[in-house]
Amino acid sequence: MPNDFLSFFLSWMSAPRRVGAIAPSGAALADLITREITPTTGPILELGPGTGAFTYKLLKRGVRQQDLTLIEYGSDFTKLLQIRFPGARVLWMDAGRLTTERLYDGAPVGAVVSGLPLLNMSTRKVVSIIGGAFRYVRPGGAFYQFTYGMNCPVPRPVLDRLGLRAKLVDRALLNVPPAAVYKLTRRPQMKIVTETLAPDASMPVAPTPMHLVRDYTAAP
Ligand SMILES: C[S@@+](CC[C@H](N)C(=O)[O-])C[C@H]1O[C@@H](n2cnc3c(N)ncnc32)[C@H](O)[C@@H]1O
Repeated sequence: MPNDFLSFFLSWMSAPRRVGAIAPSGAALADLITREITPTTGPILELGPGTGAFTYKLLKRGVRQQDLTLIEYGSDFTKLLQIRFPGARVLWMDAGRLTTERLYDGAPVGAVVSGLPLLNMSTRKVVSIIGGAFRYVRPGGAFYQFTYGMNCPVPRPVLDRLGLRAKLVDRALLNVPPAAVYKLTRRPQMKIVTETLAPDASMPVAPTPMHLVRDYTAAP
């Protein structure tokens, strides 16, 4: 919405590190970050929705407002979101508190869509936000994050610590500034089988006593 540029810019002037951008995301980025989401994705958690650039796109994709939980730390943005999306659950909350709040019973969330400026945050905060969000993500669910940086905004040690992997979805070169979207998913679970296999006489080399096998009951 045209008015959003002014309100976004004023918010950025008052809290540049929190807002992290001088203007809302454009249509190309909103398309890209929501590309894999459908009405059957189920409950969706949106972090840092701002004026709702991604939220509008989710609704256009057929997602129902009642399937949306929007977590926003800017009080002006929160009020605006409550007016624009009356059927959604809009919470004025620091996403860093996801680890301590209980937003859902169990883990029903199919996708997390994040517009948070992770590059402006401490590693500790990034761990609480992403780790906290994955508490609610069901097996096979994903966390979509955009960045203006050249690389994944979640550092490798954080991914390792949380047992996640990141994949570039694509770049939105038409966005101003150009941006990229990364998809974070859980790594396949590895299970250690400790029992020693009986030696097989037909094998020239003794089998290793310990094998890593993939647990196919886990999410892909
Ligand atoms: C770069 S803007 C993105 C806004 C919107 N998603 C878009 O793409 O136009 C970042 C948003 O994250 C919000 N935000 C920053 N830190 C936050 C936090 N700890 N918890 C919740 N929201 C936060 C800001 O207030 C702002 O609305």
